[in-house]
Amino acid sequence: MPRSRLSFKILVVGDCGVGKSCIVNKVLQNSFRPSYIPTLGMDLFKKKIEVQGRKAELCIWDCSGREIFKSVRSPYYGNAVGVLLVYDITTYRSFENIIKWYIKISVDVHPSAVLMLVGNKSDLNIKREVMDKRAKNLAKLYGFVFMETSALQYINIEEVFQILASEIYNRNLGRIYLLENQSRQIKNESHLLNVKKEPNRPQERKKECCEGMCFPWRLNWRWLMRSRSN
Ligand code: GTP
Repeated sequence: MPRSRLSFKILVVGDCGVGKSCIVNKVLQNSFRPSYIPTLGMDLFKKKIEVQGRKAELCIWDCSGREIFKSVRSPYYGNAVGVLLVYDITTYRSFENIIKWYIKISVDVHPSAVLMLVGNKSDLNIKREVMDKRAKNLAKLYGFVFMETSALQYINIEEVFQILASEIYNRNLGRIYLLENQSRQIKNESHLLNVKKEPNRPQERKKECCEGMCFPWRLNWRWLMRSRSN
């Protein structure tokens, strides 16, 4: 039996400065950047994770908060199976804008995608503008999973990704790739059809992980972003 790999495309969206990049950096490298350096466009990362005893890979798309001002649909949201809708508990405006983000992404993400409402900067409770009860109500209304986090104090950071991945797995939304000769198989979509026969797995779509931009385009993409920021 060939070994397989699960792959989940995750978007991280929310207003500028709510802490999206810090959440992602924390879960990937356990590092925290106190200074604010805005994300330009998107940043793409991969994280290995175990979900209910199976190895999986998260393709995490850290989206700039400026995306909300763009009226055009983003080509990068397509086929995401999990979304972190992040607001800052000390900025009510960022919470109000969650619905705008929801509307913006919901056109393109997978119809059964797992949406998670994340109230970041919970360490700044003294400056809190968004009561967690209000956030819970919103989450209930829209069917979001809800959690508060602190990238600074490493509160609920691992948990957010673990819960998101488990829920995606439970909904059978991940893509499956055979591990042998992986790069060739990802290029040749016909190999994915074999995986459909695996028991209890969903039908795989004829598209690549992260629309084919994970690797090797990732390096070029990040290089392009860096050179734009210089
Ligand atoms: P854009 O890239 O513009 O969309 O912003 P972002 O959402 O990625 O914000 P970023 O992660 O760059 O963080 C913005 C600021 O918030 C930085 O100065 C961080 O240090 C700070 N910050 C992020 N997370 C936390 C947190 O959990 N607690 C506190 N106190 N500050 C945080």
